[in-house]
Amino acid sequence: MELENARFLSKLLSPWALFLVLSSLSFIEAYDSLDPNGNITIKWDIMSWTPYGYVAVVTMYNYQQFRHIEAPGWQLSWTWAKKEVIWSMAGALATEQGDCSKFKGNVPHSCKRDPTVVDLLPGAPHYMQIANCCKAGAISTINQDPANAASSFQLSVALAGNSNKTVKVPKNFILKAPGPGYTCGPAKIVESTKFVNGRRVTLALMTWSLTCTYSQFLAQKTPSCCVSLSSFYNDTFVDCPTCSCGCQNSNTKHRNCVKGDSPHLRSILNGPTKYSYTPLVQCTSHMCPIRVHWHAMLNNKDYWRVKITIINLNYRMNYTQWNLAVQHPNFDNLTTFYGLNYKPLTAAGSAINDIAMLWGVKYDDLLMTAGPHGNVQAEILFRKDSNTHTFDKGWAFPRRVYFNGDNCVMPPPDAYPWVPNEELL
Ligand SMILES: *[C@@H]1O[C@H](CO)[C@@H](O)[C@H](O)[C@H]1NC(C)=O
Ligand SMILES: *[C@@H]1O[C@H](CO)[C@@H](O)[C@H](O)[C@H]1NC(C)=O
Ligand SMILES: *[C@@H]1O[C@H](CO)[C@@H](O)[C@H](O)[C@H]1NC(C)=O
Ligand SMILES: *[C@@H]1O[C@H](CO)[C@@H](O)[C@H](O)[C@H]1NC(C)=O
Ligand SMILES: *[C@@H]1O[C@H](CO)[C@@H](O)[C@H](O)[C@H]1NC(C)=O
Repeated sequence: MELENARFLSKLLSPWALFLVLSSLSFIEAYDSLDPNGNITIKWDIMSWTPYGYVAVVTMYNYQQFRHIEAPGWQLSWTWAKKEVIWSMAGALATEQGDCSKFKGNVPHSCKRDPTVVDLLPGAPHYMQIANCCKAGAISTINQDPANAASSFQLSVALAGNSNKTVKVPKNFILKAPGPGYTCGPAKIVESTKFVNGRRVTLALMTWSLTCTYSQFLAQKTPSCCVSLSSFYNDTFVDCPTCSCGCQNSNTKHRNCVKGDSPHLRSILNGPTKYSYTPLVQCTSHMCPIRVHWHAMLNNKDYWRVKITIINLNYRMNYTQWNLAVQHPNFDNLTTFYGLNYKPLTAAGSAINDIAMLWGVKYDDLLMTAGPHGNVQAEILFRKDSNTHTFDKGWAFPRRVYFNGDNCVMPPPDAYPWVPNEELL
């Protein structure tokens, strides 16, 4: 319905007006009410001056509650303000050297005006490592793994000026993860970072800082996740809405999805697109790479139970450190989680903790590629509150679900399983 409206509007409005209209529609989350201050903050700390410039450590801190960056990882680029070159790097590399022909003898690491930097892989030689590097561009969330919620690299910059009066702040920072979605503000001079090392505190000589924020609209992502429902009191299985994440195109069926029992699956996976990160999904009516199933399980006088199953339908992706954010009024009175970590979140403008961030137990949080092992399960036991508890009108089902920060498409409320006769429950 909303998409139809959007198509209709696009015929009437200029692109900019359309952007404003679309931004205000609820299905495009430019601003995330569950994590209104979520951002990635990048600090550029000048650690020492050299005869030709300086040595800096650049650190990306992920201050987002439930959006992490996973394989194939971040890419950071910027434009130099002067004629700077990257003389050497540790913990990361510039993807292109560019034109260094005017240098004789020792040649810089990169002479690009707008270098793009990527993380090194785990197991990089020791002399190329620094703290917080070499995780193939993965950055966890502060909630799930605070020790891995930052990523750093070191660079020695030449032709840069070598005092705080002569250096210039780089411009046009672009953070990709690795696709679009983040918008970065300008870097500004801020109070110098303090480094605490045991009992000694040192100061950066100069610190520049900028923040990048994520928008699903800019990422131009079709939904990547949907929700299906079932209950103990009604046999109906409510599947994800048809075409939640795209429709099966009959002409290109074999290209945009594969049947689970396809004999060609193995050869497709080992074919020329072997290292692609484009999802290769199992053919379903919803075409989502991820389906979250919420099953309202048996209840007794004081408690009721929910089983959550996350099903991976993408043959090309192992999800590590997955997380869910789920909104349900009973989280306020939640009791016990099995096989899950939990943190309450409060939506902007909400008085109650009705949102739970859930994630797997460390080292047991791998959601394998589509197939017999491509799912994880967890259970939640809720305490009933006689004033509010009811199985009527879909109360037992979640209001919103996010998988790895992306909003999952819910079935329409009128399709929720009905309670045959509430007195029986
Ligand atoms: C980025 O996140 C940090 C930590 O939550 C917060 O202190 C800061 O104000 C945020 N910055 C912006 C521009 O939202
Ligand atoms: C530059 O360095 C001088 C002396 O070290 C210091 O007094 C001044 O505050 C610094 N300026 C900035 C912008 O960091
Ligand atoms: C997923 O993980 C399994 C087990 O670690 C590995 O064998 C497989 O190659 C991985 N698949 C992808 C697409 O990364
Ligand atoms: C949670 O339980 C307490 C009593 O244990 C009750 O006072 C409160 O209203 C309940 N809240 C909700 C949202 O169910
Ligand atoms: C189960 O729920 C569906 C709606 O999803 C409804 O059509 C059906 O009548 C319900 N079954 C019973 C036995 O109430």
